[in-house]
Amino acid sequence: MAILRKASATSPEPAACAFPHKHLLGIEGLSSQEIQLLLDLADSYVEQNRAENKKTDLLRGRTLINLFFENSTRTRTSFELAGKRLGSDTINMAVSTSSIKKGETLIDTAMTLNAMHPDILCVRHPHSGAVQLLAEKVNCSVVNGGDGTHEHPTQALLDAQTIRRRKGKINGLTVAISGDVLHSRVARSNMHLLSTMGARVRLVAPPTLLPKDVERYGVEIYHNLEDGIKNCDIVMMLRLQTERMQGMYVPSVREYFRFFGLTQEKLNAANPNALVMHPGPMNRGVEIDSELANDIDRSLIREQVEMGVAVRMAVFDALTLNNLSDAK
Ligand code: NCD
Repeated sequence: MAILRKASATSPEPAACAFPHKHLLGIEGLSSQEIQLLLDLADSYVEQNRAENKKTDLLRGRTLINLFFENSTRTRTSFELAGKRLGSDTINMAVSTSSIKKGETLIDTAMTLNAMHPDILCVRHPHSGAVQLLAEKVNCSVVNGGDGTHEHPTQALLDAQTIRRRKGKINGLTVAISGDVLHSRVARSNMHLLSTMGARVRLVAPPTLLPKDVERYGVEIYHNLEDGIKNCDIVMMLRLQTERMQGMYVPSVREYFRFFGLTQEKLNAANPNALVMHPGPMNRGVEIDSELANDIDRSLIREQVEMGVAVRMAVFDALTLNNLSDAK
């Protein structure tokens, strides 16, 4: 069972104080101890998810609502599974068939759902800051499933858990994040998390795909893939998020793959035991070579998906404890 709960038996402080947050809206602002606590907790859930009986009743009687205003495969499904495996009643709001299509605002929708007394709302929205706004209006815990180009905290946590399980640590590793950083909430959350946990972070992208204020993140910048991944332990590839682009950011997809697509050959520039990650959805032949993505010796992509469920269970566990203790 959860490490948080085990800790409460021995420590003088209530274990819930170790994660004194009502919501999980971003990685920015979390301490290394808080991140480590969530990762430790997630490790215990990996075992539960691999067992024949995957269900416990930690969240029995509680209600979790998934409210996704953007498409999703992995994130929405894993929030749903995480809620169900912890015994909660889990509902997926289908935004495309909801009253949002009749012109109801985000806040009115949130207030309507709030009146049904959910315990956790998992929200994805195309606008940066929208999830925070919603969290200010409801009584329950809110988990950010990705807001615009801002943050995607559970993705960074699952990436960290995947790295930690494979490499045994995060501190001291060199991680290259390569691709469409400009539009990537995954990159932003990962930059915060990896830096907080003591990893060295490099961004690799053409100048058009980097944020203007990129210096503020205190990371190293490269415009050449082979240079950027040299001596790296982890190479994290990002999709070209064309749905967030107005106009062309790269001359052509073919040229992009030639210079920024990760292949086995280019990966030779990294450490011999470097591992490849991708949050999905992948565009094979654009940012990553198809064979490399399938290479189970080098690619962690499937493990990332597995860790997604465990990490989200850990987040629900930690937040639910805090609901009981009235955390802000
Ligand atoms: C990412 C997202 O939605 O931000 N996907 C995910 O959650 N696994 C990345 C992307 O869409 O490219």
